[in-house]
Amino acid sequence: MAREERNIKVHIDNVKKIYSGRNGDMVALNGVSLDILDNEFICVVGPSGCGKSTLLNIIAGLLEPTSGTVEVDGVKVEGTGVDRGVVFQQYALFPWLTVRKNVEFGLKLQGKSQKERDEITMKYLRMVELEKFADSYPKELSGGMKQRVAIARAYAVNPSVLLMDEPFGALDAQTRTQLQTELLKTWEEEKKTCFFVTHDIEEAIVLATKVIIMSARPGRIKDIVPIDIPYPRDQETKISPRFNELKNHIWSEVYQEYLAVRK
Ligand SMILES: Nc1ncnc2c1ncn2[C@@H]1O[C@H](COP(=O)(O)OP(=O)(O)OP(=O)(O)O)[C@@H](O)[C@H]1O
Ligand SMILES: [Mg+2]
Repeated sequence: MAREERNIKVHIDNVKKIYSGRNGDMVALNGVSLDILDNEFICVVGPSGCGKSTLLNIIAGLLEPTSGTVEVDGVKVEGTGVDRGVVFQQYALFPWLTVRKNVEFGLKLQGKSQKERDEITMKYLRMVELEKFADSYPKELSGGMKQRVAIARAYAVNPSVLLMDEPFGALDAQTRTQLQTELLKTWEEEKKTCFFVTHDIEEAIVLATKVIIMSARPGRIKDIVPIDIPYPRDQETKISPRFNELKNHIWSEVYQEYLAVRK
């Protein structure tokens, strides 16, 4: 079937990544191929060091693959671009700009008028329930609030795909579940295509339309598990029998890879 008909957002074709260092070459990814369709919420899990961040950075255009290609909306990735919004574990906000100016930043680059910028900025600050903090500076916010600003900023520029690398990884459990619920609500409204890396299998299942399990180094795609739990979902989803079946299945697959790392 033609690619357009299947609405492929991200086409990853046979990507290999070798890091060359003092201790010789290290194959971080080998033969990774994946199509991410429009409106999918992909969560990637796998043992530490299996290449999750490497893959995300290649899609973001922050790293170049050693071989293979990535296309976003049919265009080969050759660097960063506003078609890909990125959120990292550490809140990469500009400390000298207010919350509002941080969210507005990318919109300025897109040449939007002040009126449009104000509207879009406030829409996304409302989405993450931070409109009252629009004029605060990042240092005045908690970790969870900073991460919500980073998410609002990524959404505001309306990228084709959102790339998130353990965005809730540094947060306490309660804040983390709160942000999961917010992100779910947002995704259910906008169905923005997401590629989300996490260590947390429960987080992956509650959010994802599909969970990608990566194998121990060199990273390959070991399995793709469709999450057949209907949306809307919330934290209660985590106590359903189907959730627990999926959790056991994914956990045992990931555990085999942990054991492989330790060998
Ligand atoms: N810049 C680099 N130079 C050399 N090796 C690197 C570099 N970045 C990552 N690696 C190696 O590549 C492998 C994959 O790293 P990556 O950060 O992609 O893993 P990860 O799955 O994101 O791990 P984690 O779950 O701990 O974040 C690791 O073995 C890491 O040591
Ligand atoms: Mg990582």
